[in-house]
Amino acid sequence: MGPDLTNVYSAPGKGPAYIKAFVQVGTNVMPAFNLSETELDQLVRFFERIDASGKADPKNFKRNLNGTIEYK
Ligand code: HEM
Repeated sequence: MGPDLTNVYSAPGKGPAYIKAFVQVGTNVMPAFNLSETELDQLVRFFERIDASGKADPKNFKRNLNGTIEYK
């Protein structure tokens, strides 16, 4: 449905202002959301927390033919 957002908070050129703008404006493949400033701030704090708690990029995984995955 969309990209992995785990580390969008600290990604170069992204971060709080980018997240708020993206959610409010949307794109041709993602709907815009009409959120209050409080809700946008809460969303940004959520992304800050998940950024600090983990690192995820599906491209770092290799899918094996037997259905298992492994780190590249
Ligand atoms: C509250 C809900 C959502 C939030 C907070 C959110 C947030 C974001 C953010 C911050 C990005 C930019 C990622 C980046 O630049 O690395 C993004 C991209 C994207 N999101 Fe969402 N999103 C939400 C809901 C959705 C939904 C419902 C869909 C699909 C129906 C969707 C589909 C996408 C797609 C396809 C992209 C890639 C952008 C593009 O290629 O134009 N998102 N989203």
